[in-house]
Amino acid sequence: MRQTLDNYEIVVKQNLMNDLGEEITSVYPYKDIFVITDHNVFKLYENLLTTKLNMFNLKFVSVEPGEQSKSLSTYQEVVQKLLKLGMRKNHLLIALGGGVVGDLAGFVAATLFRGAPFIQIPTTLLAMVDSSIGGKTGLDLNEGKNLIGAYKNPLKVLIDPSFLDTLPKVEYKNGLAEVLKHGLIGDPKLYEYLKVNDKLTLNEIKRAIQVKVNIVKKDPFEQNERMFLNFGHTFGHAIERHYDFAIKHGVAISYGMLISLELGIKAKITPAHLFDDVKNILLRLELVKEPLLDKKQFIEYIGFDKKNLADGLRFVYIKNIGEPIIKKGVEI
Ligand SMILES: NC(=O)c1ccc[n+]([C@@H]2O[C@H](COP(=O)([O-])OP(=O)(O)OC[C@H]3O[C@@H](n4cnc5c(N)ncnc54)[C@H](O)[C@@H]3O)[C@@H](O)[C@H]2O)c1
Repeated sequence: MRQTLDNYEIVVKQNLMNDLGEEITSVYPYKDIFVITDHNVFKLYENLLTTKLNMFNLKFVSVEPGEQSKSLSTYQEVVQKLLKLGMRKNHLLIALGGGVVGDLAGFVAATLFRGAPFIQIPTTLLAMVDSSIGGKTGLDLNEGKNLIGAYKNPLKVLIDPSFLDTLPKVEYKNGLAEVLKHGLIGDPKLYEYLKVNDKLTLNEIKRAIQVKVNIVKKDPFEQNERMFLNFGHTFGHAIERHYDFAIKHGVAISYGMLISLELGIKAKITPAHLFDDVKNILLRLELVKEPLLDKKQFIEYIGFDKKNLADGLRFVYIKNIGEPIIKKGVEI
């Protein structure tokens, strides 16, 4: 699969890493490449990249795995290391890792030298189907997640599902929650597949990517349709905050999606059977457990009081599989 979004290509292919040199050469004419990754991915894939890119002058900067690396202090450390290693204007940056590395490296690429050429190589399921696509980059502050950021398109996104062979099961499931979301907001076939399957083939990975590409194409700067991608996230983010982020994002948005479906049914937007159908998928994938979380305890973390929630917040509902809608206000 080769898709063009804005002016960059998204390439999805099993064992794409075998063609890595050619993929890079087609968009980057020089020899210096700086790879930002995290320690887990570095340990697993340093040799692979070094072998596949032996015609380049390759340098690595590796950060601690996990959300804490999307910080201003890690950003500064990374930039200083890159400069020390000899990175100059127009040298290529590669993000090799999950969404954390992608967001951090993307933000470095957006800001260092007022913009550096940049390639995304996502290695988690979530990064493949979601965070590597669409140009959003960012860092967290103590005050909240992703508060600092920039839109920065890469030169290419190179997606090789072979990386998933080493991904821990819990991280794979984390990505499946977003894939289910993509099915619900944009692809009934993908949704049907997840009703009976736990493992994606290349075909479903492509379908999940296509949902994001289609939405971002229509609305690159989140004025309208791109908000569909926030389905389940209003409550999902509130749940993450309630648990002080000691809960996986995929688990939080799984509960968030169920709350959104319940509220959609209450508002007579969502078909009644959908709540149980989706709940059964999420139970089977062990993304939620019964008894389900009570939505009332998360309302305060949405950052709106109950009245504002009803008046102002733009909330994503599912009218039918593949048919999301946005409405102002939500009755809890
Ligand atoms: N920019 C966007 O549009 C966007 C969209 C969604 C999410 N995000 C961001 O993505 C981040 C979450 O990303 P994530 O879920 O990929 O988490 P992550 O980057 O923390 O990766 C999860 C874990 O998997 C490990 N890992 C990565 N690839 C591996 C592999 N192939 N084999 C073995 N281990 C591997 C990592 O070291 C890490 O420990 C969040 O910060 C979120 O805000 C951004």
